Amino acid sequence: MLKDEIRRLAKEKNAVIMAHYYVDGEVQDLADFIGDSLALAQQAAKTDADIIVLCGVHFMGETAAILCPDKKVLVPDTAATCSLAESCPADEFKAFVEAHPGHTVVSYVNTTAATKAVTDVVVTSSNARQIVESLPEDAKIIFGPDQNLGAYISDITGRKMLLWNGACHVHARFSVEKILELKAQHPQAKVLVHPECKGPVVKLADKVGSTAALLKYAIADEATEFIVATESGILHEMQKKAPEKTFIPAPPEMPMDESGNARSCSCNECEYMKMVTLEKVYACLRDEQPVVTVDPEIAEKAIRPIERMLDISQRLGL
Ligand code: 13P
Ligand code: SF4
Repeated sequence: MLKDEIRRLAKEKNAVIMAHYYVDGEVQDLADFIGDSLALAQQAAKTDADIIVLCGVHFMGETAAILCPDKKVLVPDTAATCSLAESCPADEFKAFVEAHPGHTVVSYVNTTAATKAVTDVVVTSSNARQIVESLPEDAKIIFGPDQNLGAYISDITGRKMLLWNGACHVHARFSVEKILELKAQHPQAKVLVHPECKGPVVKLADKVGSTAALLKYAIADEATEFIVATESGILHEMQKKAPEKTFIPAPPEMPMDESGNARSCSCNECEYMKMVTLEKVYACLRDEQPVVTVDPEIAEKAIRPIERMLDISQRLGL
């Protein structure tokens, strides 16, 4: 079986398979480690494997490659990019930063290595609040590229920020009306929202957090029904960890498949994350490619804000 073959190859090559909660359930089940963006970066930084197979999108592979220059980092499909990272071209972001001297540049991890290279500190949705709060009170802050996460963090920390106007096309398309309809059908259900969603969706939340934070809340909370407004891949682990509970994916405004046609299912999926299949994991481990490479000059600059994030997170026990 393909899964057995992948496990055999991973053992033989001393490879670790890491997966984000948004990839297909069967890939998550096969992985040695599943986590949110912060956990994947932390895990990559400390692994002693020779090869990292990063089952996620390209920026996650880049982050691992920057942190582990002595290891081979593989991604199953280099076309699996991220609309949020793409919404922040490095040259335009650099010009924006240069036009606003004296600012601390805080960038979400969903950025290319070149954008991280013009950043002071990287954040994820698991630590953005604490990292922004760790900056001096009078710090002038640029936050990029996610305007929704930035607006949310600005709101809860009271820190004013200059926001880059990027967004994730998956999280930006959740519908307030459809969540309210679901709430009417399931009045006891709690609403779980990722902070990449737009403000009006965030306002409906009982809990706002990263994928890992939403998962933790869903397991621990006494509620038995949850409406989940983030990429629907997380429901796999939620259902595994709390099989007695009901998880309802919040539908997008207009469900589309990858060709732009209306789809029958009401899930909100990231087509990039869903490019990662078992077949591709097998092929990349067998052939040891595609390898993620980062220009050494860019990597040298990008590693500083990533390590700063990891250091602050460690200090704060995140
Ligand atoms: P987290 O992994 O921080 O929850 O972010 C979600 C996401 O969109 C990753 O691409
Ligand atoms: Fe990027 Fe959004 Fe997909 Fe996450 S869900 S990888 S932010 S496009």
